[in-house]
Amino acid sequence: MRRLFVTIFLWFWLTLIAVALIIVLLFARAGLGYRSLVRLSLHDLLLFSVAGGIFCYFISRYLTKPLNKLSEAAANIAEGRLDTRVDPSLRNRRDEIADLARNFDRMAERIEALVTGQRRLLGDVSHELRSPLSRLIVALSLVKQGPAEEAAENLDRIALEARRLDTLIGQLLALTRIDSGVDRGSPASFDLTNLVQEVANDGDFEARARNRSVLIKQAGACTVSGFEELLRSAVENVVRNAIRYTVEGTAVEISLQIGDSRALLRVRDYGPGVSKSMLSEIFLPFRRIANDNSGAGLGLAIAERAVNVHRGTIRAMNAPEGGLVVTIDLPLA
Ligand SMILES: Nc1ncnc2c1ncn2[C@@H]1O[C@H](COP(=O)(O)OP(=O)(O)OP(=O)(O)O)[C@@H](O)[C@H]1O
Ligand SMILES: [Mg+2]
Repeated sequence: MRRLFVTIFLWFWLTLIAVALIIVLLFARAGLGYRSLVRLSLHDLLLFSVAGGIFCYFISRYLTKPLNKLSEAAANIAEGRLDTRVDPSLRNRRDEIADLARNFDRMAERIEALVTGQRRLLGDVSHELRSPLSRLIVALSLVKQGPAEEAAENLDRIALEARRLDTLIGQLLALTRIDSGVDRGSPASFDLTNLVQEVANDGDFEARARNRSVLIKQAGACTVSGFEELLRSAVENVVRNAIRYTVEGTAVEISLQIGDSRALLRVRDYGPGVSKSMLSEIFLPFRRIANDNSGAGLGLAIAERAVNVHRGTIRAMNAPEGGLVVTIDLPLA
């Protein structure tokens, strides 16, 4: 038998007997003689002890059984069975134990999602690192063994793959830094309108070299509280994608609308858009539309995490006339 069960049982039982004794004593003082008191108390005490014992047994079981179930579920999770959830009967109670069970399940769900996400990311990362690395190894062996006149071309390939690896690792570091919260500093108020203006100016400079442009259609004034550089990287990623996909001669349009409690940033391009099934997928690491390997595939995953840190949301949808619209919805300070 468990210690908590025995302790609860004994406490209840002894308390009941003590209360019974006090009642009997008071009863005796009120007029009954000593003899009848002994007879009465012994008789009653016996009955009372048995009935009290049964009552206390059930109370102790009622209190300790859910704890045993919770303890079992915790042990399962500790052993790596992350899909374990507590018995549904616990969640249906209407007491603090039900709150504990629900919170336990929420914790288990979160841990399972985090661990599964990390495992998948690790698998994806290994896969993504492998391709440039094997191309680099092939180019290296060609430099060594191939004709001398092709050496320069192969060296260029090596440089390109090394740059790709560097970008990929840099993006991965950015992603894990956001998740872990290191190097973030303390939140501060900053001018969101100014941030958007700066990103748009830089984007426009980049876009003009490719016969495209970036245009701010509307920009309300607003200040938000958070991490400026983090949010800048989110907006930059979205604007850069839009510049990459918008067709030649068109402009990426940016608008910043300010409501009572939220700021809504909208970035719209005139490119091919994204198929419906991929609209939410593109925010997962390394999810790219088919045959598109021009980027590392982490920009939107970084953007989503950066926006989530600010308790905001990011979404993508296709404009009715074509092109992708990415919206970032942020609560104001
Ligand atoms: N504006 C857009 N129009 C069409 N497709 C897009 C657009 N933005 C993103 N995508 C698709 O979503 C994928 C994921 O975008 P994301 O920014 O995460 O990665 P990336 O741009 O490929 O690489 P990175 O940003 O890490 O350099 C892209 O590869 C592309 O297939
Ligand atoms: Mg990108």
